[in-house]
Amino acid sequence: MRKFILLAAVAIVMAFSGQAMADGADVYAKNGCGGCHGKTAGGGIGPALSGTDFIKGDADAIKAVIRDGRSGTMMSAFDAKRISDDDLSALVDYMKGL
Ligand code: HEC
Repeated sequence: MRKFILLAAVAIVMAFSGQAMADGADVYAKNGCGGCHGKTAGGGIGPALSGTDFIKGDADAIKAVIRDGRSGTMMSAFDAKRISDDDLSALVDYMKGL
């Protein structure tokens, strides 16, 4: 019984910490980035993001494009209400690894 309680406690802690940690893949999926850039960021309506010089480059420049969008294109701005700072960092890390 005691073992069961311990296991249950561990499971609860893991569930909570999992929720608190931003998951870049999740942020990418939830915000519909894949709808334009492709599910694995290989490109679609929008340019490919995986492995391009831009994505390999400066993280702040990537964040700026996501925050501000590119005016006159379909790339819209994603403000902090849509993607929190933590989620944005996780998203950029995720895209760099694609
Ligand atoms: C409605 C379609 C659409 C959606 C949704 C979209 N994008 Fe874009 N994105 C574009 C287009 C089109 C461009 C190219 C803009 C240009 O011509 O400079 C672009 C450009 C970019 C760039 C710059 C790429 C480069 O090489 O200059 C990044 C980074 C990017 N998008 C990330 C994202 C992320 C992350 C999301 C989700 C939060 C997202 N986009 C959602 C259409 C979209």
